[in-house]
Amino acid sequence: MKHIVAINASPRIGWNTSRLVEEAARGAKEAGATVEIIDLYRLEPFQGCISCFGCKLPKTFGRCVSKDGLTEVLEKIRKADGLILGSPNYLGNLSAGFRALYERLVFQSLTYNKERPNCNEHLIPVLLITTSNCAESVYDKVGYTAMLENYKKMLDKFVGPTKIMIYGNTLQVDDYSIYNWTIFDPVQKKANHEAVFPLKLKEAFELGAGLI
Ligand SMILES: Cc1cc2nc3c(=O)[nH]c(=O)nc-3n(C[C@H](O)[C@H](O)[C@H](O)COP(=O)(O)O)c2cc1C
Repeated sequence: MKHIVAINASPRIGWNTSRLVEEAARGAKEAGATVEIIDLYRLEPFQGCISCFGCKLPKTFGRCVSKDGLTEVLEKIRKADGLILGSPNYLGNLSAGFRALYERLVFQSLTYNKERPNCNEHLIPVLLITTSNCAESVYDKVGYTAMLENYKKMLDKFVGPTKIMIYGNTLQVDDYSIYNWTIFDPVQKKANHEAVFPLKLKEAFELGAGLI
């Protein structure tokens, strides 16, 4: 039986990103896999790559040697047959938690060696889900398409063939009236959420099933 690791790199459990990750995980499960969902922001503290180069030494080649909240996650990904990653867009990039995992996941396989630039011989399918305030229609213009293409390129090479799913114009809070967020139209946000989110959950489910 195939095993999928699903990672929610949003601190808000039950909101857009985590629900899409859960739905993708459910899709993978219904397609016959076992699935573990990990909420990154509920782990013991962790950091990104500390540039120790332990993963470049013969004894620990290809393995991140940093010991913290991500150590076990990296071990679980190593044994998995597929990976679901979800992150909100924070300031035009993916979340800091996502970046920490991404640095360590990718860099451990990057060898700086001409003959064998990637030492990961267990490539697995990856689904990267990202959500944003920004509407999908402006992703090209604001640079998000290029930013995500770059993640895809690196994940394709060092983790495995990657599909990207985006969900823009998300509902950020239940009650917009308590903030002075004049750039948003709360009525439009709610209406969009009600109309589009169910379709996005379905898309996530199908993409999750497609990993198997
Ligand atoms: C710190 C922070 C920075 C954000 N920066 C952006 C941004 O640059 N562009 C954008 O479109 N949305 C931005 N957002 C909005 C989130 O990406 C969006 O609400 C997302 O759907 C939140 O995911 P969640 O509901 O899973 O927490 C930001 C939100 C926060 C909290």
